[in-house]
Parts: sequence; C-alpha cells; structure tokens
Amino acid sequence: MVRAREILDSRGNPTVEVDVVLDSGKMGRASVPSGASTGVLEAVELRDKDMGRFLGRGVQKAVRNVNKVIGPKVVKMDPSEQKKIDALMVRLDGTPNKSRLGANAILGVSLAVAHAAALDSELPLYESLGGRDARLLPIPMMNIVNGGAHADNNLDFQEFMIAPIGRNFAESLRFGAEVFHSLKANLMKNGLSTAVGDEGGFAPKLGSHQHAVQHIVESIEDAGLKPGRDVVLAMDSAASEFYDGSNYVFKKSTKSRLSSEKMIDVYSDMCRNYPIVSLEDPMAENDWSGWKAITNRLGRKVQLVGDDLFVTNRKVLAKGVRQGVANAVLIKVNQIGTLTETFDTMSFAAKSGYRCVISHRSGETEDTSISDISVATSAGQIKTGAPSRGERTAKYNRLLRIEEELGKRAKLSGRGVFRPL
Ligand code: PGA
Ligand code: ZN
Repeated sequence: MVRAREILDSRGNPTVEVDVVLDSGKMGRASVPSGASTGVLEAVELRDKDMGRFLGRGVQKAVRNVNKVIGPKVVKMDPSEQKKIDALMVRLDGTPNKSRLGANAILGVSLAVAHAAALDSELPLYESLGGRDARLLPIPMMNIVNGGAHADNNLDFQEFMIAPIGRNFAESLRFGAEVFHSLKANLMKNGLSTAVGDEGGFAPKLGSHQHAVQHIVESIEDAGLKPGRDVVLAMDSAASEFYDGSNYVFKKSTKSRLSSEKMIDVYSDMCRNYPIVSLEDPMAENDWSGWKAITNRLGRKVQLVGDDLFVTNRKVLAKGVRQGVANAVLIKVNQIGTLTETFDTMSFAAKSGYRCVISHRSGETEDTSISDISVATSAGQIKTGAPSRGERTAKYNRLLRIEEELGKRAKLSGRGVFRPL
C-alpha cells in the first residue's frame, strides 16, 4: 500500500509524507523538505494555492497525486526496483520539471520506496543504497550564523558555516557543538541576539559579513580549537537572492552595489584573511560569466559549489562542466525529485571531477534519509544546519548511529575533501 498525508515542516508549512507498506507489513516512510531560496530551474513543489488553507501552501493536491495516481501504478512493484519505479513516476508526470504531479509527491514516494527496500532486505538504508563499501562518514558543514532568506537580520549572505574536522564523526560533531556554544557566549558578551534562524544558526545584526566570520574565528579559539586545523570555514552566499541582473546589491545591510568583479574581490580577500575552504553560490544563478570569472580566479584553491546554479540537475551540471564553471555541486534530493536522478547527477559529477555536498533544505522534517545518502554515496560532506533545532540534529544524530554501527569499518572523510579535484 502507498499512502500520503500532509504533515508540517520546521517552518510550520505543510509538506508531504509518504508510507510504503509492504505485504510483509514492513513500512518505509519518508517526508519531503522545502527550500526558501530556491533555484529557478528546480523541480516544481506542488502547492494547492487555496488561500483558505495554510496561506495557500497546502499540499493536498500532491497528496492526492500519490494516493490516486502514483500509488495504484507502483503498488504491485517490488521496492528493490527503485530505478524502474522512479522512471515510471517521471513518465507518469510527463513534464520536464515534474510540475504535473509535483516533485514533492514524486520524491516522497521515491524515498519511501528506498526505505521499504532497505527494511525488506534487512539492511540499514546506507548499505541498501551503497553496498558494503558504504562506510565513509561526511564532514559536517554546520551553518552557525544565518542570514539572507533564512533570518530577519541584516546579513545578505545566507550561511556562515564551520566544518569541524575531528578524528571521527562524533568528535567533529562535538567540536561543532562546542564552537556553537562559544559563539553564543561571544554574541551575548557583545550584546548581540542569540535567537536562531531557520537552520538553527544564530541570526545577529552585525556590521558586515567579515564581522560574522570574525566572531566565528574568535569562537573557535575560545573553544580551545585551532581555526584552519580543527575547524575550517565555508559560506553560502545564495547570491541569486541579491543579484539584480547586473549588480550584487546588499539590500539587507549596507545597500552597496557591487559588479561581479568587485564581488569576486570581496570573496578573494575573505579567503585570504580567513580559513575559508568552500564558497557556495558566490555568484547568481544567471551570472554565468561571473561564475566563470570566479572559477578562473579561485577555483584551484577553494571549493566552489553550485546550488541554485545546478539544482542537482545533470543537464545543467553538464553545461557547467563544459564551460568550466564551479568545481562542486550541492545535492538536494527535492531539487530534482527522485533518488535515481540524484544518484545519476552525483555519478556524472564524480566522472567530471566535481565534488558533491549532500544538503538539507531550510524547511525540513525529522526525516534523516540524507544522512544515509551521504554515507551510501561516500560524498564526504554534508550540510544540515547548526547543532540546534531537532530537524537539524536528527540528521547529525543519525550519522552518530551510523558511525557506531559501522564500528571499526567507519572512516571519516578528511580535510582533503574540500580541495578542488
Ligand atoms: P534553501 O537554502 O533550502 O532555503 O534553498 C539552502 C541553501 O541555499 O543551500
Ligand atoms: Zn545554497
């Protein structure tokens, strides 16, 4: 049996949850995340637009599409046939961007099928998807200062992340949590807000992006750790959010307008002054010449991750590879809508010498599929928010359990994972 329902995500918006119940009675369950700073080319999240419910954000249509359209077609199929089931859903939808049935409907089924298959074969999800070789734990990239579309402060850059590198995942996570607490103390000492944003990071009003990084570096030191050795830094500017078609306009802070070239100067300086190893969406999704320029300038030293730029879409990534743009791709299952297509994009990235970063969305649920996916694919990097808010810690805690389960076989990805290939 396949059944879907409307549940709430971490922002109090409705989202889709799907149960796939096998004849044995075993049940695979998954739910679908939702972004705030979405790429234009993402697969379509179907919303009801009925203003009488949830401010128009209901997902009853997507739920109905699972229960009435997809369910009856896949109910007789074997859950181990993930590729066939995903391909069938893509055909049933029939549009290039899943706008008919909704990527939220399709992804819910795709992930729930994967969980059902794992239960059926009595394997943990990471092993069911990745085989016996799946034993590489990712470095967590923890978004401890939130800005942009994820907070109502004055930071235009969306995410300031720490990537703690311990001897194993548990130690990395501990470093991350310790820095989080020391950052809280640092902000309090400076009379700044310690309320958190959508991804669990603090959302203080600060003088500049450089100040945010400065507070983080001090906090790493206050925690008794060494910036650049124990903890490195990453940013996701989500620059499409503040690009007006020709300039980058800091509308939340200084109102300054920067050309692509000047914007790249800012990044270049920040990477020189701080141990920043990864820049995500430093340029806007429709500023391909800016992207090309930053790749030429920084692409041999710093990881440059395309999120809104590539939207986990193999075809869009192929354009980037052809043009020599970016050197890594952010992987969000709901940007493309099926597990099969996600894996396809990832293997294409690997073949093309691009790194993959597994990612949550700013609107999340308690679902932890991405933790297993990160291990199954040996991606080596995961970003799933601060060590705060249950929907974020659920993913990190799942990785703790996976590491424990793998025992001596477990291996933590190293600092080298950020080095461009
Ligand atoms: P989103 O943000 O989920 O709101 O799109 C996450 C990101 O930009 O990486
Ligand atoms: Zn992003």
